[in-house]
Amino acid sequence: MYYLGIDLGTSSVKILAINDNNEIVGDATKEYPVYYPQEKWAQQDPADWWRGTLEAMKELLHKLNIPRNQVRAIGFSGQMHGLVALGADNEVLTPAILWCDQRTQAECDEITGFFGQEELSRLTGNKALPGFTAPKILWVKKHLPEIFAKIKHILLPKDYIRLMLTGEYATDMSDASGMLLLDVKNRRWSKELLVFLEITEAHLPRLYESYEVTGIVTEAVKQELGLEGEILVVGGAGDQAAGAIGTGTVEEGIVSVALGTSGVVFASHETYAVDEGNRLHAFCHANGEYHSMGVMLSAASCLKWWADTIHPDVDLETLLEEAENTKAGSNRLIFLPYLLGERTPYSDPDAKGSFVGMTATTTRGQMTRAVLEGVTFGLYDSLKLLEAMAVPVKQVRVIGGGAKSNLWKQILADIFSQEIQEINTNQGGALGAAILAAVGAKRYKTVEEGCRAMIKVVNSISPIEENVKTYKRLHPLYVELYEALKDWYKKSSQLQGI
Ligand code: XUL
Repeated sequence: MYYLGIDLGTSSVKILAINDNNEIVGDATKEYPVYYPQEKWAQQDPADWWRGTLEAMKELLHKLNIPRNQVRAIGFSGQMHGLVALGADNEVLTPAILWCDQRTQAECDEITGFFGQEELSRLTGNKALPGFTAPKILWVKKHLPEIFAKIKHILLPKDYIRLMLTGEYATDMSDASGMLLLDVKNRRWSKELLVFLEITEAHLPRLYESYEVTGIVTEAVKQELGLEGEILVVGGAGDQAAGAIGTGTVEEGIVSVALGTSGVVFASHETYAVDEGNRLHAFCHANGEYHSMGVMLSAASCLKWWADTIHPDVDLETLLEEAENTKAGSNRLIFLPYLLGERTPYSDPDAKGSFVGMTATTTRGQMTRAVLEGVTFGLYDSLKLLEAMAVPVKQVRVIGGGAKSNLWKQILADIFSQEIQEINTNQGGALGAAILAAVGAKRYKTVEEGCRAMIKVVNSISPIEENVKTYKRLHPLYVELYEALKDWYKKSSQLQGI
């Protein structure tokens, strides 16, 4: 039998298949656009997600070339927080407002002003951040009241694909945690938040654990895909929780770092815990437990911006080679990686990317290295928040596009002052989703068993002592820089028309 993981990302959907022998046997990817109609806005068309999913599924099934009745279960990994608002006939009422959309600071302030941060944290485990879903719902209520009045169903992005596959309105605890509507501790919707937004549980999907079966694929979809037999669809997870399953981050002591478009430091807990000040996200994990994570909005995307936009005529390998030939610390040149504003440790949509400390001797290699170091210092800020919660950090595992760079992994080991472990797969969320599908189909008894079967540590990178010392001295300057610039960022955002 085969188990599929659908990873509904921001730039593409990827579908991956595993088999009963714990092997990854194939994958297929389809891209779709993100629309940025105004500064701070980021939207997508759910129809593009569904079209991409069907195309990727057909391509994957063609590659696998297996009997029609061999697909047993499907799981998801989904870009989180996005608002999909549907009317009575499941029609999409407004473009999906994405996780990286930053238009809702006023709504966040309104939610926090109404409840107070302490109470909001007691009710949801989190604070109101512009990326989260509840402020987006409030934004629609205020700015598009005629649309708000028509809303019958509110879904997260991957749950729209579930609806198209099964006809069910359902979500899982990890993705629901990022809506600011879930009482994360007790794994149920927060009545107080629903009342405040003037919505009811009937608007929201049913809640499941990530490995529970939420429905089966409809006959119509099976016919379109040329499939037969009962195909289970499990809850799946938000992309970070699914990615953590895909790195085996399912026990205390393992911390995973994702160097993707966004950057994430993720730790699993057996029991519910929040950090002081709610700087980290306190969410349900996909194995039925909890997790804490810090999310940077721009991580590998900073390197992509530096390479594609600023140096379109130089290939990435050349840039990284130049960076490798410079010393740790980039001659005290510091890059603040806030190209899209920031979430952790500063919730600040106005923060901006900045190079500070250039001299007449600054080289391109130092600037490239400063980009990698700046993103990694940002991740280290999240690690320090985890350490302050007394989360044990025994192993650090790295995945994501940025993990392809040996230089970046070394910088991570040096700034974290920790051994970094590489695993046998960089498939992340798609693999996590497929493992969850296999658990739902009872191929594995538990998520942990699935992780043990599929994921192995294959290499580790040790910190270089001299670099560790350099970074320990430089990190305080990095932290001070944001403090020094934050008012300036605000003023510059308010300066209209330039
Ligand atoms: C997590 C988060 C991102 C998005 C996009 O809180 O915002 O992981 O899900 O990948």
